[in-house]
Amino acid sequence: MPSFFEQADFDEHESVTFATDRRTKMRAIIAVHSTHLGPSAGGVRMFPYADSESAIKDVLRLSRGMSYKNAMAGLKLGGGKAVLIGNPRTDKTPELMYSLGNAIENLGGKYLAAEDVGMTLADMENIAKKTNHVFGRDPKLGFGGEPSPMTALGVFLSIEKAIEVKLGRKDLNGLKVAVQGAGAVGADLCRRLSQAGAKIFVCDTDKGRVAHAASISNGEIVDIDEIIGLDVDVFAPCAMGAIINDASIPNIKAPIICGAANNQLAEEKHGAELVKRDILYCPDYVVNAGGIINVAYEVGGNYSKEAVEKHVSQIPNTLENVLKEAISRNVSPAIVADEQAKRLIGR
Ligand code: NAI
Repeated sequence: MPSFFEQADFDEHESVTFATDRRTKMRAIIAVHSTHLGPSAGGVRMFPYADSESAIKDVLRLSRGMSYKNAMAGLKLGGGKAVLIGNPRTDKTPELMYSLGNAIENLGGKYLAAEDVGMTLADMENIAKKTNHVFGRDPKLGFGGEPSPMTALGVFLSIEKAIEVKLGRKDLNGLKVAVQGAGAVGADLCRRLSQAGAKIFVCDTDKGRVAHAASISNGEIVDIDEIIGLDVDVFAPCAMGAIINDASIPNIKAPIICGAANNQLAEEKHGAELVKRDILYCPDYVVNAGGIINVAYEVGGNYSKEAVEKHVSQIPNTLENVLKEAISRNVSPAIVADEQAKRLIGR
């Protein structure tokens, strides 16, 4: 491993804190990428990383991604992320959450935590016993709760915009959409799309989840290996990252890719490859910002669902701006979004 400042994922992060606690065996890393626009905000991810090197890589990459996402969403928030090394199913205790709460508190508000992979609402409430700098909290206490419905709303509105830009269509009636992943976001997206008249194809590794998504959207269940090659109008990745890669690109028939999954392009070059094939890629962090917008409205202390929905409804305008610039320059929308985001955070 190259020394810390020289490694590829280090991008002038303002601070990276390694936090440990002997009593609870906590090993956490909190990266603050940028506070140019405001306190850094991003989720806590608990994951059984194979080694600390992969945890460092993840936190550096994800925190920079949050700077870009928050900036493009027009939020007065910078980008940060925390990773907790461990198995969320077997290693999690309330005491571990208190230790993490103390570590977040020690940063004095430079990092605002929310939920990410491996964390639950109950964990957020445990962290909140030690710090106020935690969000994505219980709606019963006046907070925003589960962010996924707002993420699904933002993706839905983005798909509407993408079909307008690419297909010249004003509505989804009769269009076919393939949704990869029927989790919290994917299932709600299926429901919204079907209500708007789209024909849904959906897959998931979890049989129960995919059956539920299909039932609420009158959708057709397809095999997980088939979803990406379906002859549809829109491919909506809502499961895991890096699914647009050397192996998958030749199979993609959809003229539009627009979904919630983070880091969909395995590498930057895959953005250019999609341009060559005339496939319109909607940058993931632009379209999936609904969840962090939901969190941002908790930060001010007066959460309102209506205000969040109004803010989320701006996502298609941001997307349109990115897509039109990319089309006119014949470059990937991923490149244009990164350029715009970097300008917004003063880099
Ligand atoms: P989730 O964990 O509820 O759902 C993910 C689903 O994908 C699960 O049902 C899982 O079984 C399925 N899955 C895993 N591997 C698969 C495969 N190979 N093929 C098909 N399905 C597979 O997660 P959630 O919250 O719905 O998020 C979906 C994606 O959107 C994730 O990439 C997440 O990082 C991203 N995202 C979510 C946000 C939110 O508000 N929940 C906000 C921004 C991004």
